[in-house]
Amino acid sequence: MFDGKEGPAIQKAMDLLVRYGEALDAERLADTNNVAGTIGATMPFLRSYAAGEQGFDAVFSEFSLDSGEVLAIPPVKVFSSHLQQGFDPAHAEQQGIAPEVVKIYKKGGDYCAKLGVQPLNTCAPYLVGNLPVKGEICAWMESSAVIYINSVLGARTNAEGRESAGAAMLTGKIPYWGYHIDENRLGTHLIELDVDIDSVSEWGLLGYYIGEMVQEQVPVVNSTRQIGNLARLKHFGAAAASSGGVEMYHIVGLTPEAPTVEAAFGRNKPVATFRYGPAERKRIYQSLNSTANDTQVDFVMLGCPHYSIEQIWEAGRLLEGKHIHENSNLWIFTPRAIKQMADQNGLTKIIEDAGAFLMTDTCSALGRVLPKGVKVAAVDSAKQAHYLPAIMGIQAWFGTTADCVQAAVTGRWNGGLK
Ligand code: F3S
Repeated sequence: MFDGKEGPAIQKAMDLLVRYGEALDAERLADTNNVAGTIGATMPFLRSYAAGEQGFDAVFSEFSLDSGEVLAIPPVKVFSSHLQQGFDPAHAEQQGIAPEVVKIYKKGGDYCAKLGVQPLNTCAPYLVGNLPVKGEICAWMESSAVIYINSVLGARTNAEGRESAGAAMLTGKIPYWGYHIDENRLGTHLIELDVDIDSVSEWGLLGYYIGEMVQEQVPVVNSTRQIGNLARLKHFGAAAASSGGVEMYHIVGLTPEAPTVEAAFGRNKPVATFRYGPAERKRIYQSLNSTANDTQVDFVMLGCPHYSIEQIWEAGRLLEGKHIHENSNLWIFTPRAIKQMADQNGLTKIIEDAGAFLMTDTCSALGRVLPKGVKVAAVDSAKQAHYLPAIMGIQAWFGTTADCVQAAVTGRWNGGLK
């Protein structure tokens, strides 16, 4: 492949991976059959490339293969999933997206199909058909997904970029380093809990605390009492990857590489021990709410990371028979495949009857899509509370899902630490 026997696009991909591997001091390349990346062009700076004569081949060549020359891109060699995009074509009008931009999006969908990239269009591919197993070497982008598959599933990925993921799609190779290697997956910091973590928002607070404390290291949460589930661990990891750069954690008795504290640390000794108690919980809650002071809420965003079907069902129960306040909006984000299920089982109708929207493919912070004129948002995700005010210049309240739905219905924030 490096010598160009499989054509110029694959040669460029291999050249890029070799240069990347050398920069990382990787000992070799590994085989991968599972790539999650992005080749779309929904963000404004990419659209001009996609709109040109050579279309998406120009986007792939420039932004995935580091090639100024436009190459004919062949179909992908290994199982490849598309991550989130910049907007939801089915709700383009609400998101303020012009029809010509939707046309480019549709061209991108056709391009993905031609290459064989699966249009999961979500930051949570593990919810909809891409569920790697323990030990599987993957090449995934998206921090919340990387931490989930490393820690909860025991798969092995580093946080790849658009370039390395694109090159891996064409070659089935990725530099072998970082979290592919056993010793780098061992714990570095011990976290002791003095409070119970028993809801999605509590897991979000804990994750945000841990990310702040350990930054890019590997925390080990010493507790067999906490009950995790998909939604809780999804929020927890996304939060830890936002306040810090955590890509891998262990929870003793819960995650696959941590049957005991000893197994989680292996030959490492904890470099520090942190205790998470009521004071830490309060401090994190206050810091996540530090951008907000206006209690009039004109936008509620749920679905960061994208909601599971269980979470949509819960939101539906909270919303049933209610109506969103005339001065407010509620948008819920989920993968396309889950939206289809919600369409079929009546949940979408409950949400829409309440005056809210169930959207796919993107989210407010990443796609920069908000209802017009929004000043104050409410979210149930620590990750979204971290990014939304910074990216969009608005205020954001953080609280439970119930607090958020109530804010959408009343137009007022009435949450607080219970
Ligand atoms: Fe997903 Fe957007 Fe959150 S892409 S993880 S919903 S910031």
